[in-house]
Amino acid sequence: MTVKNILETMDYGPAPESASEAMAWLDSKNRQFGHFIDGKFTPPTQDFTSKNPANGEVLASLSQARQDDVDAAISAARKAQKSWAKSGHTRAKYLYALARALQKHARLFAVLETLDNGKPIRESRDIDVPLAQRHFYHHAGFAQLMEDELPDREALGVCGQIIPWNFPLLMLSWKIAPALAMGNAVVLKPAEYTSLTALLFAEICDQAGLPKGVVNIVTGDGAVGEMITASDVDKLAFTGSTEVGRIIRKATAGSGKALSLELGGKSPYIVFDDADLDSAVEGLVDAIWFNQGQVCCAGSRLLVQEGIADTFYRKLKSRMDGLRIGDPLDKCIDVGAIVDPIQRATIADMVASNDEGETYQTTAPEGCFYPPTLITGLTTSSKLMQEEIFGPVLVSTTFRTPAEAVAMANDTRYGLAATVWTENINLALDIAPQLVAGIVWVNSTNLMDAAAGFGGVRESGFGREGGWEGLSSYTKAKDAPKPTKPVTAFEGKGGLSDPIDRTAKLYIGGKQSRPDGGYSRVVYGPKGDALGEVSLANRKDLRNAVEAAHKAKGWSKTTGHLRAQILYYLAENLAARSAEFADRIKAMTGKQGKDEVEGAIQTLFTYAAWADKYDGQVHGVPIRGVALAMKEPVGVIAALCDTRPLAGLIEVIAPAIAMGNRVIASTSEVFPLAATDFIQVLETSDVPAGVVNLLTGDHAEMAPHMGAHMDIDAVWSFSDPSHAATIEAGSASNIKRTLIAPVPGAAKAMLDAATEVKNIWVPYGE
Ligand code: NAI
Repeated sequence: MTVKNILETMDYGPAPESASEAMAWLDSKNRQFGHFIDGKFTPPTQDFTSKNPANGEVLASLSQARQDDVDAAISAARKAQKSWAKSGHTRAKYLYALARALQKHARLFAVLETLDNGKPIRESRDIDVPLAQRHFYHHAGFAQLMEDELPDREALGVCGQIIPWNFPLLMLSWKIAPALAMGNAVVLKPAEYTSLTALLFAEICDQAGLPKGVVNIVTGDGAVGEMITASDVDKLAFTGSTEVGRIIRKATAGSGKALSLELGGKSPYIVFDDADLDSAVEGLVDAIWFNQGQVCCAGSRLLVQEGIADTFYRKLKSRMDGLRIGDPLDKCIDVGAIVDPIQRATIADMVASNDEGETYQTTAPEGCFYPPTLITGLTTSSKLMQEEIFGPVLVSTTFRTPAEAVAMANDTRYGLAATVWTENINLALDIAPQLVAGIVWVNSTNLMDAAAGFGGVRESGFGREGGWEGLSSYTKAKDAPKPTKPVTAFEGKGGLSDPIDRTAKLYIGGKQSRPDGGYSRVVYGPKGDALGEVSLANRKDLRNAVEAAHKAKGWSKTTGHLRAQILYYLAENLAARSAEFADRIKAMTGKQGKDEVEGAIQTLFTYAAWADKYDGQVHGVPIRGVALAMKEPVGVIAALCDTRPLAGLIEVIAPAIAMGNRVIASTSEVFPLAATDFIQVLETSDVPAGVVNLLTGDHAEMAPHMGAHMDIDAVWSFSDPSHAATIEAGSASNIKRTLIAPVPGAAKAMLDAATEVKNIWVPYGE
């Protein structure tokens, strides 16, 4: 090609990055890897290979971990963890050393990542590797600060971590840095397609002199993931498909293991008619063509305001035509290879199965490449608008009004991220809180940083990675509530002396209602005397309560100030009847009830105090902007109360409603009458209908339905531990949050459980 030709076409020439250092490193290992356990590499067993998806070349052979390997890794971690947890400053020094080592070997990591995964070198060099370093630097700081800033938290112990192939080193850093910072030891399994940077990281741990056993890496496929899931780790952290997330939720149900799930998404990308269209187009390049669209938070669902749709699509197609697809090691490449031919076939099949709308595709080279694709004219119910494609395929429809945009954006089972483009700050800040997502980007997209929590709601999972909010997933309360002694209901002689039916009713949607099944139970005192009857709620009563709770959604939008006032009012009305409640508790339990009533009043005061003070934060992130970490209510919480007649109820409903949730509480199973008396307090305290719903009856009847109900966002159980497995297995249905403990925890822990952090990234400053 002559200079004249070049000037005519203005084509980019190739600018290949050299693979020689990375190849030399692989050669130095004879292109064979074992696992990294207890500070050493095990002998390789050559069970499967890792290939460069861009050309099919085998890069190395890897070992599939056997049960013995997983056991050895977990026992090495167990042995190392106690002394690792001792000094935050020592941990900070190691994390800092790891960050420095990642920085020193940045180019090697970037090239190896690109070879193994197929992502453009521009991305691994400028995004994956720098962000991985940033995680270690940032969490070195958390390790240093833990003792002073989180004095009531401690390490969980050994964490099993299972990560996907889309950001191999970055996901490793997101998992390992916070775990280590908080004093845990880890056993991490990279995805089978992309293990090489994890193995290079293991070598770096060794070079940094990290105490052996603190980081262990085992390789292999899902079977190894299953072994880790079944092992006696204290916590499992998983990033990957919603399908596998569900399997892990079920497999760990009732085990007492902590769990965080970062799953799929179908994130909306909303463009309003006043947006800077060129910037919004450029944003889309980062939203859906970054990493070939293999990004859990990819802006894969484009919603464009009708009036600008034609113009916007035209600009977008012209930008798509300019995207360069090909050799990922070429520094001029925008779109690299799909991670594996299997994944490419999945994308192609999903696109081929669609017969709706109009498809626009650019071209891609032969091999494991897929062309950038835009499908317009779909409806929100179209299959491709609902299902995660995990490839460079953007699907789109139009909307007319902001309200319609919000409704369409939220019409998904996922809730990971959302993007809003508009030049109108009022509109952006009006829309952001209405989007059901863990992250919202305003006039920007796919921004991530160690200082800001990352994670979703609904079937996108739970738990946050990054920021102060991410640390709770890797710690537990030092003074965890102690299990209470089991209490059984008193038996009686049968029958009630009072001929008039005084069966306490259920409280649903602000009304007292009879149980659907028509059954009730007599409550006996310690001497066997009948004290009254309570209704036995069933599945239909729960369903009615869930409906009522959803109707009361306005509660979530009330101010903390108003909620505080109502909680104080509840306390005041309870105080006015404290003698009556104390007598009732004594009659049921045989023990004085004064202290419990006083404690309940104090609890109401505590959460009234917090209602307008449990604020979010503004995270300083290293971009031209800030991330507003807003604490939002979880939604509808169903709870099984512990045996304490009044305290068990108040410690559940007070934090839940203080934070703007609606709650369905199944009261103390054995001593339910104080809770049913509390209905009158609720009725006289301005609590809107449906905000608090009370059910009485058997917890065993409620547990499976609460766990599995698709419209419940969280289940808290302070009841018999035997219900934990049922609730957690059922919660896999819609990936709801669960809190299982003998009794409710300290105020901060309960407020944490009652809220979810949404990070809203807004441009700010210069
Ligand atoms: P995956 O969810 O199967 O794999 C993620 C990790 O889990 C890998 O390390 C894998 O070995 C492990 N794993 C697989 N089965 C397991 C089991 N039963 N127990 C424990 N661990 C197990 O994801 P995969 O198959 O690689 O991709 C399939 C689809 O998942 C993609 O097409 C995409 O839609 C989605 N995906 C979503 C990701 C996200 O970040 N949200 C990341 C990767 C995939």
